[in-house]
Amino acid sequence: MKSLVVYYSRSNNTETVAKEIAKAVKGEIKKIELIKEVSFFWAAVTALLGKEGKIKHVDFDFSDYENIFIGSPVWAGKTSTPINTFLNQADFTGKNVYVFLTQADEKTPSLVFESMTARIEARGGKVKDHFFMQTNMKSPLTSEQVTKSVEEWLKNFRDGSFRS
Ligand SMILES: Cc1cc2nc3c(=O)[nH]c(=O)nc-3n(C[C@H](O)[C@H](O)[C@H](O)COP(=O)(O)O)c2cc1C
Repeated sequence: MKSLVVYYSRSNNTETVAKEIAKAVKGEIKKIELIKEVSFFWAAVTALLGKEGKIKHVDFDFSDYENIFIGSPVWAGKTSTPINTFLNQADFTGKNVYVFLTQADEKTPSLVFESMTARIEARGGKVKDHFFMQTNMKSPLTSEQVTKSVEEWLKNFRDGSFRS
C-alpha cells in the first residue's frame, strides 16, 4: 500500500510533520509551493475568503498510491490557500486520505477538518482520519517534538494500512 504525503508549509512546521509522517509510513513526499509567497495579512484575508493560491506545477497523477496524506497550516481559521488550489484540482477517487494540520491554537480545528473532508470526499476520496499539532509561531517545531506524536497517531492503524 504505497503512501504519498502532500503538503504546503510557509514556515516549516507542517513540513516537519510531513517529513515525519513520510518517514514513518515509508512514503513519498511532495511539497505544494506558491509561485510567490504573499504577506501574512494577504495570506490571512485570502484564506478567510476561501480563495485559491497560485501554485507551481504539481503532478496530480496519484495512480501509484493507495494512501494520501494532506497537510496544511491553519490560516485565519481556514485551510491555507495553496491547499485550497490542490483540493480543487486533485482527483482522489478510490484513495484513502489522511488530513493533518498545524496551528498555533490548542483547540482541535474541527471546522477545518470538516471542510477539507467535504472537499476530498466530493472528489472521490475516503477520509480515514485526521491529526493536528499545535505550534508556536516564535519557535518552529523540531522533528524530535513531532516524532512521538506522529508515532502515537499512526499506532491507530496497526492493521498495516501503510506497509509499503
Ligand atoms: C496567515 C496566517 C494565518 C494564521 N491563522 C491562524 C489561525 O487562525 N489559527 C491558528 O491557530 N493559527 C494560525 N496561524 C498560525 C499557523 O497555523 C501555524 O504557525 C502553523 O504551524 C504554520 O505552519 P507552517 O510553518 O507549516 O507554515 C496563522 C499563520 C499564518 C501565517
